[in-house]
Amino acid sequence: MTEWFADDSFWAELYPFEFAEPTFATGEAQVERAIALSGAQGGDALDLGCGPGRHAIPLARRGFRVTAVDLSEFHLAKARERAGAENVSIEFITSDIRSFVRPNAFDLALSIFTSFGYFDDRQDDLKVLQNVYRSLRPQGTLVMDVVAKERLAKVFDPTTSQRAPDGALLVERHEIVDDWTRVRNEWLFVRAGRARTFTFTLRVYSGQELKDLLSAAGFARTRLCGGLDGRPYGLEAERLVAVATK
Ligand SMILES: C[S@@+](CC[C@H](N)C(=O)[O-])C[C@H]1O[C@@H](n2cnc3c(N)ncnc32)[C@H](O)[C@@H]1O
Repeated sequence: MTEWFADDSFWAELYPFEFAEPTFATGEAQVERAIALSGAQGGDALDLGCGPGRHAIPLARRGFRVTAVDLSEFHLAKARERAGAENVSIEFITSDIRSFVRPNAFDLALSIFTSFGYFDDRQDDLKVLQNVYRSLRPQGTLVMDVVAKERLAKVFDPTTSQRAPDGALLVERHEIVDDWTRVRNEWLFVRAGRARTFTFTLRVYSGQELKDLLSAAGFARTRLCGGLDGRPYGLEAERLVAVATK
């Protein structure tokens, strides 16, 4: 059976909610912050789960040689179009992040906006981090930004809804499952009177759990932050950001 994240119709339905222009534009500041957290001075950058190029393009504009990996042809087409319009050169690769590895090739790797934790098997998450570890050069840094389990416990709402600029409606149902290791999501999209539901489960990590997984993948040092702005991973954390160095 096709895994949920390999179904491009999901990303297409979600696109107007996830990547309306104001959200797309936040990529610029996020890249600035991720670079500052990593201490990277340029070189080769890898964007894992690059989506429509929100971070790959600003990285390329800042002089990084960028390789951007994603499984979604829908997102990659958007990314290629934008990169072309902005006249930046990026290597786009269609691949599952479980299989992409290029030994000792990168100084910086990014995984932003919860592009991690999609697999049923936790070993696959480890595999992804091992691939990144192998793909980084010594002293290379991975900056990851995912949902924070501690934050989720604080603000959990079983039902949320939003309307996209194009008028479509998204109603989300969330349920904590598997002993607080995963969140089961049932998302109902209503567009022009037509409804579609997608059900998928996301693995969520506490700070310590992600640190342990990064360590198991080989990373020597991991610093946690509560956002890309570098705030501490404490009560005020909004995201789980890990800055892991090879
Ligand atoms: C929430 S989006 C984030 C996109 C981008 N990082 C951003 O912040 O704009 C997650 C992305 O991960 C990609 N993705 C999901 N599973 C993947 C996999 N196994 N291999 C490669 N890409 C994957 C999706 O196609 C999607 O583009």
